[in-house]
Amino acid sequence: MKSLRGYLGAIAGIVVLLVAAGFIGWAIGHSGTKTAAGGNVQAASIDPSIANGAHNFVQFACVQCHGERGRGGVSPDVPALTTVGSELTVAQLRQIIDHGKGVVADPKRPFMPVWGQVISNTQVSDIVAYIKAGFPDVPGATPVSVPTGQGDVAAGTALYQRYGCVNCHGPNGLGGVPNPASPDKTIPPLSGTAFRGEFNTDAKIIEFIKSGSVLGKPPIVSMPHWGGVIPDQALNQLTAYIKTLR
Ligand code: HEC
Ligand code: HEC
Repeated sequence: MKSLRGYLGAIAGIVVLLVAAGFIGWAIGHSGTKTAAGGNVQAASIDPSIANGAHNFVQFACVQCHGERGRGGVSPDVPALTTVGSELTVAQLRQIIDHGKGVVADPKRPFMPVWGQVISNTQVSDIVAYIKAGFPDVPGATPVSVPTGQGDVAAGTALYQRYGCVNCHGPNGLGGVPNPASPDKTIPPLSGTAFRGEFNTDAKIIEFIKSGSVLGKPPIVSMPHWGGVIPDQALNQLTAYIKTLR
């Protein structure tokens, strides 16, 4: 009897403990919710221009060359941007984004692309505000993720967004993005008979993406050099996707 009572007592004690633990858990859960809400309030207090700049930094694939929040580490040929916000003026940063930093006729390494015709004035201002603010954490400003196990075309479709190809070559590689100072007046499509005739092997497509092509001095927009930035597997996947474009 006594031992049964002992058991019951122990069980009751455990129940009390569990209820207490549950309550503590609930309390923690609630304070956690409060913290999360506090976090949102903080995010909402980020200047909208800076928040837009963080999204543009991802959309135009600055992040793919300059690293997450401009911290570098992608390629030895691409600098981190963590100190330029204090070293350079707004006008200097805008000049570099619009006009690049100069490239030789046959670049062997990644160069800073010319963005003036591709990124609107407001978007450039927002990116500069984001750089000047020191790359604050902006929830949701993250590159599109690449699906695994769904084949090269599915991965390539995501990579076409992730590396910002879409900004220059248009949705589905249809082209039509103005490049007024260039001979063709637009950035070429990655679809159509002319493209397919010229780029009729995987090797030719991959080689072009890796080495880029400089059409002329700014304000002409040229094809960036992606060698050393886009890994080989991703180049194969991008190519598989490009070959599906009609
Ligand atoms: C294809 C890779 C690539 C992409 C994409 C790219 N950059 Fe760059 N960027 C470079 C390289 C390489 C340099 C160094 C150029 C040099 O010093 O000649 C550079 C330099 C810069 C500089 C000057 C840094 C300094 O220390 O003077 C700024 C600012 C900059 N990039 C901003 C951007 C922004 C903003 C974007 C997106 C709109 C972007 N970059 C996209 C490769 C890239
Ligand atoms: C800043 C704008 C820009 C970005 C970003 C860009 N390209 Fe290009 N791309 C060009 C321009 C301009 C040309 C034309 C170059 C030429 O004719 O010599 C070109 C040409 C090409 C070509 C050859 C097409 C042809 O008819 O000459 C391929 C393939 C290509 N790009 C693939 C890509 C892929 C894949 C990406 C993303 C990883 C990408 N590009 C990102 C501007 C861009």
